[in-house]
Amino acid sequence: MNINPIPIVAIDGTSSSGKGTIASLLAKKLGYHYLNSGALYRLSAHLAIINNIDITDHTEDNLNKVVSLIIEESAHVTFIEKQVIYRGVDIWPILTSQEAGNNAALISFYPPLRYAIRDFQRGRIVSPGLVAEGRDMATAVFTDAQAKIYLDASVEARATRRLKDEERRNSGKTYEMLCEELRKRDETDKGHEVGALKLAEDAFFIDTSNMTIEEVLSDCLEWCKQKGIDI
Ligand code: DC
Repeated sequence: MNINPIPIVAIDGTSSSGKGTIASLLAKKLGYHYLNSGALYRLSAHLAIINNIDITDHTEDNLNKVVSLIIEESAHVTFIEKQVIYRGVDIWPILTSQEAGNNAALISFYPPLRYAIRDFQRGRIVSPGLVAEGRDMATAVFTDAQAKIYLDASVEARATRRLKDEERRNSGKTYEMLCEELRKRDETDKGHEVGALKLAEDAFFIDTSNMTIEEVLSDCLEWCKQKGIDI
């Protein structure tokens, strides 16, 4: 596999494994651009809903409408750090809700949608480099990445982390409910026909269950250094 001349760090992992936090910190530390690929699936579902497209209708005709929408509207979207500006409005707070994640999970299985989003993602390879996080960054979208990382943690550790967010949002979700949701989400993410979540052969695997953010970041930086990325 040829390595891209613009350095790419591809980070995959399960939901709430810490990949968003780590990818964003790593991008800052390296001075690279940051791509949150999950936001694109969340955005696709959001655009469908506001255009009255039923995302539970999985007929090809209906799903193709979602694909056309994201292709047409991507020209009106700008991703800046923790902002997603769509037609002048920051919709990041909407996209980060649990509901938006569940909606994204309803349509992210559809191969033509994944291919459309893949093209958009490849367009984000811009100098001086890119840190991209998601489910299929290392295995499908950026197979030419210089450094590949896979983060995971036990369902219990991830539910404990999530519980703090849910309490802040007053969602009423319990630890048990979160464990169940995470198990289901893992099953969905790993079961996709195209772009399933899996460990790339050449990825560095980290179990973050008992690690601090600083420890995970330090291991990731060490791995990037080993892969020839200037720190
Ligand atoms: O990482 P996240 O929670 O923002 O992802 C939202 C949904 O999109 C989740 O169901 C997984 C899916 N997704 C995907 O299929 N491929 C990616 N590269 C990123 C996210």
